[in-house]
Amino acid sequence: MLQYSIYIVDDEEMVREGVATALKKRYHVEAFATAENAIEAMENSNPDLILLDIGLPGMNGVEGLKEIKQRHPENLVIMITAYEDLETVVSAMKLGAYDYVVKPLHMETLLVTIQNALETIRMRKEIQALQEQYINENIPGFIGESNVIQSVMKTVNKVAQSPTIPILISGETGTGKELIASTIHYRSSNYKEPFVAVNCAAIPKELIESELFGYEKGAFSGASVSGKKGLVESAQGGTLFLDEIGDLSSEAQAKLLRFLEGGEFYKVGGTKKYHVKTRIVSATNKNLLKMIEEGGFRGDLYYRLAVVKLDVPSLSQRSDDIVLIAKYFLAEFNKKYNKSFVTISTDACEALVAHPWKGNIRQLRNIIEGASLMANGHELTIEDLGIAGEPSHRTGETVESAPNPEFEGGFPTITHSGIDLPAVIESLEKHCILEALKVVGDNESRAAEILNISRDTLRYRRKKLCCDDA
Ligand SMILES: Nc1ncnc2c1ncn2[C@@H]1O[C@H](COP(=O)(O)OP(=O)(O)OP(=O)(O)O)[C@@H](O)[C@H]1O
Ligand SMILES: [Mg+2]
Repeated sequence: MLQYSIYIVDDEEMVREGVATALKKRYHVEAFATAENAIEAMENSNPDLILLDIGLPGMNGVEGLKEIKQRHPENLVIMITAYEDLETVVSAMKLGAYDYVVKPLHMETLLVTIQNALETIRMRKEIQALQEQYINENIPGFIGESNVIQSVMKTVNKVAQSPTIPILISGETGTGKELIASTIHYRSSNYKEPFVAVNCAAIPKELIESELFGYEKGAFSGASVSGKKGLVESAQGGTLFLDEIGDLSSEAQAKLLRFLEGGEFYKVGGTKKYHVKTRIVSATNKNLLKMIEEGGFRGDLYYRLAVVKLDVPSLSQRSDDIVLIAKYFLAEFNKKYNKSFVTISTDACEALVAHPWKGNIRQLRNIIEGASLMANGHELTIEDLGIAGEPSHRTGETVESAPNPEFEGGFPTITHSGIDLPAVIESLEKHCILEALKVVGDNESRAAEILNISRDTLRYRRKKLCCDDA
């Protein structure tokens, strides 16, 4: 069984030794004569509980408590006071002390107070373990060790603790905005409540209001007879994730603003007021500040949504993470496709790091999935990946003027005269976009879906590459 660790901090040797001897049978105990010594020892060992005398020489108990709580907010501290000095005890409790005991110490009372504190710790650990299990079952792992992503994760963990603060996540397509939104939700105390994701760009403008807020029965012709609950109401107590928030119509923006101001709304066609408490996390890959300047997005709504702003770096800004994430996906697809890759070859790793990753982590995931599916063996090679190495890794042969080929299907043959790789890639991209649009009858949302890119990316690339054909 796990043995709890307790510090006793008291300048009176009799008290220190007496308590230590009484507790040693059940717990791991360390005794200190000053708060400074105990705090120093905490650098190397992390006690579950600290018994802290108030009247200490040097740093007194209340100052010690402040310092401990600042460095290790999770530690429980029981104050020991020589007499019931109410004022000091109250200030210690306000600073986060768990409880207090009065000297001369009554061993039975002390043991009960300690047992209560340890029960609190046990329950906390149990809840944490359950939450971790819930996270593992509900969302994929969030991988990244680079400094930029670690600082994003710090903010994620901090905001998760305040389950009402609205957060706006911005970042390029495929950088993990939705994964971050769900991580915030599942790390918050509301993790068992619903996480409701809405893609504002995928819902037709005329339907967004009734999708978000629901409608009363008979609200319009064709409405269900019983009326309909909206997504806001479905997210009661949990998180409403508004993806692609920049695509909200001005009417829906106005209604959302009203809801954010008071937590109240009316369903379409109704006069009854509804109250819902839910955290709003929104995401965008657009420049909302620029949209505000141009009149496409309400400034007052922006400031309500962006109480905390989280900018997710693109994959190229965290190239330290590329191989790490690739290996994580490789393990995932090993399981899915029953493969046995254990490593990625050195030149394949180099190519992964050098690749521009315009589609960020989603694109990396797709490449690894494709390679895992098609290839076999223990080592994933650069050929398996099917992405080009960095141009500077080429041998030093002189390259004559590169032609600008149209992609005619199949892979181009590379000769000494070279090819224009960017042009080949663009031509392939153009081919895929036009084909996808043909397949789905020119529906941009559907085309984006079957190409696994966002609608914005599709629109942007279509305009850029296919103007002549549009
Ligand atoms: N740090 C990460 N570690 C592991 N997988 C990740 C990470 N970030 C994102 N992913 C995975 O990459 C894919 C894309 O992530 P996500 O859908 O969250 O991106 P997004 O920013 O919302 O994209 P879009 O702007 O296109 O909506 C998902 O499969 C997600 O699980
Ligand atoms: Mg998304």
